[in-house]
Amino acid sequence: MTIAPNAPLLFFDSGVGGLSILGPARAILPNAPIVYAADSAGFPYGTKSETEIAARVPALLGRLVERYRPRLAVIACNTASTIALSAVRAALDIPVVGTVPAIKPAALLSQSRVFGVLGTDATVRQPYVDRLAAEFGSDCIVLRHGSAALVQLAEAKLRGQSLDPAIARDALAGLFDQPGGDRMDVVALACTHFPLVEEELAVASPRPLRFVHGGEGIARRIAYLTHGQDWPSAPPPGTAVFTRLDDSVDALRPALVSYGLHRIEAL
Ligand code: DGL
Repeated sequence: MTIAPNAPLLFFDSGVGGLSILGPARAILPNAPIVYAADSAGFPYGTKSETEIAARVPALLGRLVERYRPRLAVIACNTASTIALSAVRAALDIPVVGTVPAIKPAALLSQSRVFGVLGTDATVRQPYVDRLAAEFGSDCIVLRHGSAALVQLAEAKLRGQSLDPAIARDALAGLFDQPGGDRMDVVALACTHFPLVEEELAVASPRPLRFVHGGEGIARRIAYLTHGQDWPSAPPPGTAVFTRLDDSVDALRPALVSYGLHRIEAL
């Protein structure tokens, strides 16, 4: 089947976190038409139950695919991916790329063999994370911590609001204060919101840490899966679609434009 040049890539997250995945993808595929979907009506995901996420995410992706006819969908959210990736794949007839905690690169990078996984509460308790830790970090102490406040910090940053430095400090303390935490040298940012506040985390850390996340790897995967397909000859304006449009979306406009998202729509 030939794919029309204007068929978009669809990125999906609960909020702005997926922009940390969109950024590297745009760098590799600058002419790709983009639809960025944020489930603002369902935000935040990290404090929801598995049942709620599993019911919500495949249904929303189904509606988005019907409306925008993307060539490929990216679940740019660790919470949604670790819970609902296989259900979404089963429901859609296009390639679906998920975002899973960067435990493999963290294990490869850690010298001290103690690394952290900083995600949402829902992500860090997933069996998916147990499996990744067992497969790639079996000789490591793998510390986990969930922070809903850090998700809010990223949302506030992209709205140009003032930021409380205690939030990043407390999120890291959730890892440092666990047994073995004093030797931790690498942190996997296992929520797509967190690379957006990597600078704040680095400044808040009492000692240097390496941070890893999946953005670049996902961009390469998208490029691989769309290899040989046609694209527009110039970057088309991207679309940001929200499940609830309100004033708080207005405040995001400059940040969205900086990611090439010039149009805003409601789902
Ligand atoms: N950005 C999402 C993730 O990667 C979830 C943030 C939230 O809605 O709690 O897990």
